[in-house]
Parts: sequence; structure tokens; C-alpha cells
Amino acid sequence: MQEKVENLLKEAVDKIETAQNLKEINDLKVLYLGKKGPVSELTTHLKELSNEEKKEFGKILNDLKTELSTKFEEKIAYYTNLELQKKLASEQIDVTLPGMKIPTGVPNILEKVIEEVESVFMSMGYDVVDGPEIEEDRYNFELLNIPKGHPARDAQDTFYLSGEEILLRSQTSPVQIRTMMEGGGNTPVRMICPGKTYRRDADDATHSHQFMQIEGLLVDKNISLSDLKGTFDVIAKKLFGSDCETRFRPSYYQFTEPSVETDISCFACKGSGCSICKNTGWITVSGAGMVHPNVLKNCGYDPNVWSGFAFGFGAERLAMLKYGISDIRTFYQMDLREISTFDRKDVE
Ligand code: DAH
Repeated sequence: MQEKVENLLKEAVDKIETAQNLKEINDLKVLYLGKKGPVSELTTHLKELSNEEKKEFGKILNDLKTELSTKFEEKIAYYTNLELQKKLASEQIDVTLPGMKIPTGVPNILEKVIEEVESVFMSMGYDVVDGPEIEEDRYNFELLNIPKGHPARDAQDTFYLSGEEILLRSQTSPVQIRTMMEGGGNTPVRMICPGKTYRRDADDATHSHQFMQIEGLLVDKNISLSDLKGTFDVIAKKLFGSDCETRFRPSYYQFTEPSVETDISCFACKGSGCSICKNTGWITVSGAGMVHPNVLKNCGYDPNVWSGFAFGFGAERLAMLKYGISDIRTFYQMDLREISTFDRKDVE
């Protein structure tokens, strides 16, 4: 029996030593120390022995089990560690590789242009104000000197929401009225109002039933057309470059007198003629004029004491010019492929 144990130990230790990998050593462990293995088998013989022998042989078997377990565990630990090292070596991360680029959004180009205009005007002391998109007829038309039945209303094919009184504003000019009314007829006003406007236009490359305007208004004492020209000059140079020239052409709006169209010299061809300026050397960017005395009166300002100028830019038009966009629908269809083609440096 003693000899059997010694042979078994020797055989097992030999095999443990020559085991090649973790699987082999684990299999061997099951083979030798498992329920059906030789050590278990030897234990079954205990019951055939006398008490004295049982004690002695029991101890021998226990020592055998302990020794084998220790040897197995050592070898298992060795191969576990070895395989871990191998795995770590093969999965090494090259920290010098460039990271994966996470796609980021870009600011909406229209917002970007509006913010730029806002900051230019704010630097000249203008407030940025807001007005309702659902508007009353009297603010959108009547108080702006466009009474019911006036042919000028046809040009602004309006979305009426309820009867003839509530509408989606067709221009941001009603915010002039609201701001002057808040001014109470005795305080100067300096504001711009960027905002959405709506007209029943069929959408195409240059029309959108929803578009944005940037309204501006200055009311004070002794304001003349030359103040408008000077202000427009500053804005144009800030937005389109210091060599940008400006001119006024006579026009007609019901809420300004005199009224003008404001042009900037073509930033693309510098006046020599190109497709952007339709070979004229000039690009129209806004309507403007001196606030009509009736409008001042409607809002409680005495036209003999107060005067002012107003202007209205089409925000999409400014953005289209600045970024060379040929279709107004680009702003509203939000095709990310298209949007991401805009000069990122410029919009970031
Ligand atoms: N509201 C005008 C439009 O939608 C634009 C405009 C022209 C606004 C002249 C003004 C202005 O404030 O003075 O066509």
C-alpha cells in the first residue's frame, strides 16, 4: 500500500512537471484528484483496514492529497499567469495611434449669421428684442400705415389664423410698433429684432413660406437719412469687409418716407460684374428708410420732435451671400451632408 502511494505520487508529479498548458494541468488534476481518480480509489480501501492501520494509512493518504493539491495549484498558477502575460502582450494598445474622431455638430449657419449681425449692432448700443410670431393685423399692417384693403398687403400673401385679425406675421416690422409703444413716446429707441416670418409663397430656390428677417429701428431727436447711411456703412464693412462700399436707391414702403433699397458693392467681383451681382457690381441686402410720421404718431411719438430710421434684412439672403449658398431650402431641409460642406473654420 505504502509503495502504491509512493508510485502514484511519483507518477503524478512527473506528469505535473511535463504538463504543457493550463488545460493539460487542469485535466490532470481532475484525473488524479477527482471522484473517480486513484486517490479516491485508495480511500475506499480504508474500510478494509484495522483501526490502527486506518489511522496510519489515513494520514499517508491525507499527506498525498495535500502534496498533490499544492503541486497542482502551483502549476495552475504558473500557467494562468503565463497565459495572462501572453494575452496582455498580444492585446497591447498603441497609445500613440490617433483617436477615433467623434462626429460633432456645427452651429446652424443661419443662427451664426444672425449672431454676427446682433453682435455688430450690440456694439453700437442696440438692444436685441423679440416679438410674437402670431400677430395681430393692426401691428403687422395697420399701425405700420398699411390699412385694410391697401394693395401693399397683396405683396405679403399672409397666413391668417382666425378671421382677418390674427395672423402669422409676414414681416418683423410689427416689432417696431411694439417697441415704440413700450417707449411711451418720450424715450429714444435702438433695437434690432431677428425673427421668423411667414408668407404663403410656394417654396423654391429663392422663396420659403417661412424665412427670417432682421428688423432694425432707431428713434431719437434730429435723426436724418445720413445717420442711416453711416450706420449701414459700418454694418456692411463689418459683415462684408472693410473695402465694402454702400449705396441707396429710392424705393417705396408704406412705413418709411423716404424709403430706400440698400446695396453693397459686390464682394466677389469688387464691382467689375459677376453672376452674384448679376453683372451690376451691386447687391441689394435690405429695405430701409426714415420712419413715416404716421407710424411715429401711431406709436405716440411726436413727428415734429422725434425722427428715426428703420431697416429690414432678409437673414437667409445675408447667409446665402456670405456662404455662397444658392438654394434657400438648404437652411430648412437640414441635410447634414450639405451643412457640413460649409467652411467649418468659418462656422466654429
Ligand atoms: N418689412 C419689409 C419687408 O418685409 C422690409 C423692410 C423695409 C423693413 C423697410 C423696414 C424698412 O424696417 O424700413 O419687405
